[in-house]
Amino acid sequence: MDYNIKFIKEFIQLTINGYEQNWHERNGGNLSYRLKDEEVEAIQKYCDFSGEFKPIGTSVPKLAGEYFLVTGSGKFFRNVSLDPENNICIIQLDEKGENYRILWGLKNGGRPTSELPTHLMNHEIKKVTTNNKHRVIYHCHPANIIALTFTMPLDNKIITRELWEMATECPVVFPSGVGIVEWMVPGGRDIAVATSKLMDKYDVVIWAHHGIFCSGEDFDTTFGLAHTVEKSAEILVKVISMGENKLQTITPQNFRDLAVDFKVTLPEEFLFEK
Ligand code: 13P
Ligand code: ZN
Repeated sequence: MDYNIKFIKEFIQLTINGYEQNWHERNGGNLSYRLKDEEVEAIQKYCDFSGEFKPIGTSVPKLAGEYFLVTGSGKFFRNVSLDPENNICIIQLDEKGENYRILWGLKNGGRPTSELPTHLMNHEIKKVTTNNKHRVIYHCHPANIIALTFTMPLDNKIITRELWEMATECPVVFPSGVGIVEWMVPGGRDIAVATSKLMDKYDVVIWAHHGIFCSGEDFDTTFGLAHTVEKSAEILVKVISMGENKLQTITPQNFRDLAVDFKVTLPEEFLFEK
């Protein structure tokens, strides 16, 4: 494989950045990228098409035939940059969008992330809602956002508003807010269905007591989104730990003023009076 190909280089760089943030203990977290046509061409010569198709565990007909670069199940983000060929893989979906086969990578065996159903169902909905723009789905385990899901009501209006108040950039970076999935067994179709339903509306979905999923056009914006959400969660944890005595904050009218200057639409549902 040519590791200078842009999407592969950036994919690997994200795994380094995420590990350095301490969001990827052991095999925690996973990453997937939906290849563009010209990228599919560029990697053809490294692909082996003789592998057998295996069930995805869900159906994503709108992604039929597409190629993805994904992390392997049980593989550590820590090791991706050290040995990409053994920790990540390129897969192709069949013509129904129900099975996948490995074309490159996971050289010593293995399978794509156990969260493949969620990644692919998120890709499918985002392909439609963003007019083919979003290509990166990223799952990580950041401690502060996870901690908040134990003490805050799992209400996306309340959590979005608190996160927005913690950093002025937040409503600009995630103007549609965050979605929340209550605790569910990970790794299957049910959590994939619940998550992708929310991805219709949000670019960030929190999995209570587990982590977050982010969607974006490229690696920088997707990682930056997770970074912004977690930084805000860290400030919120500090504020709550200081006794939650907010003497001043960003008000609903402040948010409305910000929306005008930064040309974003902030749904009024998040700007309620407290
Ligand atoms: P995988 O190792 O299968 O990617 O699982 C890690 C994880 O974070 C599950 O939610
Ligand atoms: Zn996880």
